[in-house]
Amino acid sequence: MARTSPVGTGRDATRGTTEEPYSGPWRGVIAEYADLLPVTEETPRLTMLEGGTPLVESVRLAASLPGQLRILFKCEGLNPTGSFKDRGMVVAVAKALEAGARATVCASTGNTSASAAAYSARAGMPCLVVIPHGHIALGKLAQAVRHGAQVVCVSGNFDDALRVVREIVRDYPIALLNSLNPYRMDGQKTAAFEVVDALGTAPAYHALPVGNAGNVTAYWWGYCHYRELGMIDLQPRMLGFQAEGAAPLVRGEPVAQPETRATAIRIGNPARWRDAMRAIRESRGGIFSVTEEEIRAAYCRLAEEEGIFVEPASAASVAGVIRLAGNGFFGDEPATIVCTLTGHGLKDPEYALEGGPSLEPVEARADAVLERAGMAREAVPA
Ligand code: F0G
Repeated sequence: MARTSPVGTGRDATRGTTEEPYSGPWRGVIAEYADLLPVTEETPRLTMLEGGTPLVESVRLAASLPGQLRILFKCEGLNPTGSFKDRGMVVAVAKALEAGARATVCASTGNTSASAAAYSARAGMPCLVVIPHGHIALGKLAQAVRHGAQVVCVSGNFDDALRVVREIVRDYPIALLNSLNPYRMDGQKTAAFEVVDALGTAPAYHALPVGNAGNVTAYWWGYCHYRELGMIDLQPRMLGFQAEGAAPLVRGEPVAQPETRATAIRIGNPARWRDAMRAIRESRGGIFSVTEEEIRAAYCRLAEEEGIFVEPASAASVAGVIRLAGNGFFGDEPATIVCTLTGHGLKDPEYALEGGPSLEPVEARADAVLERAGMAREAVPA
């Protein structure tokens, strides 16, 4: 009997052993996938019960698109720090602890720093966070600060911050927590494992936003790993989406001044460039750019039609799927698409509140409230 995970059908982690199958509550990615991760008896069982995120069925969006699409949202904003980063971070910090590291460091557009700060705090290690000045969503900054990281802004963008961090780890014995760290990638692969564990098969397509290009690469490696284990026969076609103003992989050259309101993916020279392009090629997928307007529209549709609140970067993949569906890319046959929603909407309250209602108070009377809301009294049933 397979153990049941919160995402669906569950996987039997005791496969190939004589142990009793585990069927208790979710234990976090290290415990759940220990047999598929580079962990040993010495690796600390660090966890905040990350992973095990829901795969939520689209109720309106899929039905509104041409073709016969089943769209599932992998809601990674429900991880402990509100983004997908926690999966790889827990493994990277546990391995840093195991190796005797005294401190950690990362460059970040925000989510990596929030996750690094939280897991370093839990591991009892000081954490240095290097971020581009002026382009970090407020929620992420608040997290890094409150988890006690040393937060340093540099003038320049994420690519400059990453260059600085690479210099630091060359000269000091500090563990690098960016996705250049192979353990980040190992941990991140568990998201692909979970998709298969939930569906019993791989989806036809897997859509993701792309910034530093670690996530799309790690998902592909995860699907490849499961294929090698005989867990799946077919792998999905990987679809990566960048913001038009920060689309080096689409253009085929670095972007010196990347620009997008989706600050998480405001990256001009992704560290995992080659790996990501190989993943996209091998999977017969594609890399595309979407406009700021398309991102905003998908962001609003997710929130208003699906009830799912994401940060702007996460909406890029959905924006891309909407565009491709409109172009007939997915054909007429039934197809399952998983869209990874990488970060929670609460990360970026400023983007959320733009164009919102007036918050000027009205008198505390029912008629005044209804009038402000544009709901005439007679239109409301008694
Ligand atoms: N979505 C969100 C919410 C992100 O925070 C990131 C990356 C991505 C998508 C893109 O993933 O870099 O693996 O291609 N954020 C990094 C950070 C760069 O520093 O938090 P990627």
